[in-house]
Amino acid sequence: MKSKNIAVLVSGGGTNLQAIIDAIENNKITNGTIKLVVSSSKDAYALERAKKAGIDTAILERKNFKNNKEYTIALKELLENEEIDLIVLAGFMTILTSDLVKAFPNRIINIHPSLIPSFCGEGFYGLKVHEKALEYGVKVSGATVHFVDEGCDSGPIILQKAIPILEEDTPESLQKRIMEECEWNIMPEAIDHFCNDRIKVDGRKVSITE
Ligand code: GRF
Repeated sequence: MKSKNIAVLVSGGGTNLQAIIDAIENNKITNGTIKLVVSSSKDAYALERAKKAGIDTAILERKNFKNNKEYTIALKELLENEEIDLIVLAGFMTILTSDLVKAFPNRIINIHPSLIPSFCGEGFYGLKVHEKALEYGVKVSGATVHFVDEGCDSGPIILQKAIPILEEDTPESLQKRIMEECEWNIMPEAIDHFCNDRIKVDGRKVSITE
């Protein structure tokens, strides 16, 4: 089985990127390596994490392109040239057009900090997701890893993990617990499944084979 080339796309702190780097180092992800980290911001701390781990980085800022389509096509060409098998969106905050999804069908995965289909879609990002979950009064929340399709947070679900909401939770505390207890676990787990060809997609239904 061919070892997979992974590209991780980031815009911020990169704690999910760090979880992936650590999982590769600890053999929790096998048969894959991060070939490139692409950041939409030159100031993203994620870039420091990549450099520390000896991973190549590229900065692609939206402001240098005329529109989202041109930005997406430049990104697509970069990833195709690097022979990327799997694109991981790990806190990537720039809007992409369908050009990337068409070129990499069921080969782009995203992590979202709620149990999709709750608290997802346009406008649900960062602390807003957790504010809305607390406002609604749900008793559990969590994270979802899914394939990216042409919609927003609407692609086939690969893995989800739930945690209970605590009486004393604030948006900040919930965000932190979901990252630590859900995101940093299910993201590397999904990547390991992908790299070892264990993921089968049939329409919306994703199954993991042993
Ligand atoms: C995470 O909460 C992720 O769910 C969301 O963006 C955040 C990224 O954080 N899509 P980090 O840059 O990985 O620390």
